[in-house]
Amino acid sequence: MNSKELFLKHLAPTSEQPVLLEVDSAKGSIITDINGKNYYDLIAGIGVVSVGHNNEVVNQAITTQLQKHAHVMVYGEYIQAVVNELALKLANLLPESLSTSYFVNSGTEAIEGAIKLAKRITGRYKIVAFEKGYHGNTQGSMSVSGNHQKKRPFRPLIPGVSFIRFNNIDDLSLITEEVAGVIIEPIQGDAGVIVPSQEFMTALRERCILTGAQLIFDEVQTGIGRTGKMFAFEHFGVTPDILTIAKGLGGGLPIGAFISSYDNMQLLASNPMLGHITTFGGNPVCCAAAVGVLNIVTANSFIHDIEEKGRLFEQLLQHKEVKSIRRKGLMLAIELENEEKVNHCKELALKEGVIIYWFLSTRNCFRISPPLTISEEEISISCELLLRVFKKL
Ligand SMILES: Cc1ncc(COP(=O)(O)O)c(C=O)c1O
Repeated sequence: MNSKELFLKHLAPTSEQPVLLEVDSAKGSIITDINGKNYYDLIAGIGVVSVGHNNEVVNQAITTQLQKHAHVMVYGEYIQAVVNELALKLANLLPESLSTSYFVNSGTEAIEGAIKLAKRITGRYKIVAFEKGYHGNTQGSMSVSGNHQKKRPFRPLIPGVSFIRFNNIDDLSLITEEVAGVIIEPIQGDAGVIVPSQEFMTALRERCILTGAQLIFDEVQTGIGRTGKMFAFEHFGVTPDILTIAKGLGGGLPIGAFISSYDNMQLLASNPMLGHITTFGGNPVCCAAAVGVLNIVTANSFIHDIEEKGRLFEQLLQHKEVKSIRRKGLMLAIELENEEKVNHCKELALKEGVIIYWFLSTRNCFRISPPLTISEEEISISCELLLRVFKKL
């Protein structure tokens, strides 16, 4: 059995057309396959490897921690220096009302924790979410995601969830005093990178204060620099009650967090005690990687450069095949005529040595979410290759 046959027989699939790139190694913005062919990675494992593949600072942090200890206890029991260090670093980057982190293993788990916390804070159970939002694939996060067709085979999901239109101020009146939490991506990712208006975000914040509904910002994708700010909420000057992060936090290792105030977080410890528990959450090796990531992202002009790199992509990808480009920082949606063109483009790009990828729900666009460390030269070359692809469409 060759490696492709083994993959297809012994690994459960997620789709009928996996990319099947056979990876040998990866460094910076480049993935190398087993035949020695290099690919410009414009996806970064979907916004995960923000500081580039095989980053030396992250590798060193992981190695140093591994030499001390890996897993020693379930989340929340032992004091581990590196876990403390990560919690403090995040607290220092966030407002006082977001001072306390609960570390988990993925984005979807962070969402589950955030929903549970909103219920505990308010004593209510209803959740308001947004059309076309994406929050993950476990039962709770799927319940608040907006792709109704994908949810159908898994119903019934959690009760009390209703959907309103993103960026629509009128719909905010549907957030009432019965609502525990309102969950939103401050910039919608899977919907094809949709940036809401300042008026909408301000009105949303005000409505949640008025009704007592907890405002949950899902920054699993937008957090840790992706949009040109450390957190996307900074673009709007609007602070959530609960924040979730994951993807880019661990530099390629699995870690997420849901974050709120000190007082809010105490609610999970009693009545009942162990209100949220996880074996692997806050794994010290993953926390060490995340400390390494935050050291890189907060240094010098790292965050500042992200918007300029995004703009360069936007400038260089102008072509008649491209119907529109929506973008914030290095989170881009490139709209083509239809889904067929997107699929064709993705395949041709791979042949040219460029990795792009589709969105789950927005099928006439492809995404670009490269390592934030990508150089201007790498952007220029990969865009030249993509223009070559557009000509063949
Ligand atoms: C905004 C958002 N929330 C949550 C998730 C779920 O994260 P994970 O796949 O780590 O469970 C994703 C993943 O793409 C996401 O983009």
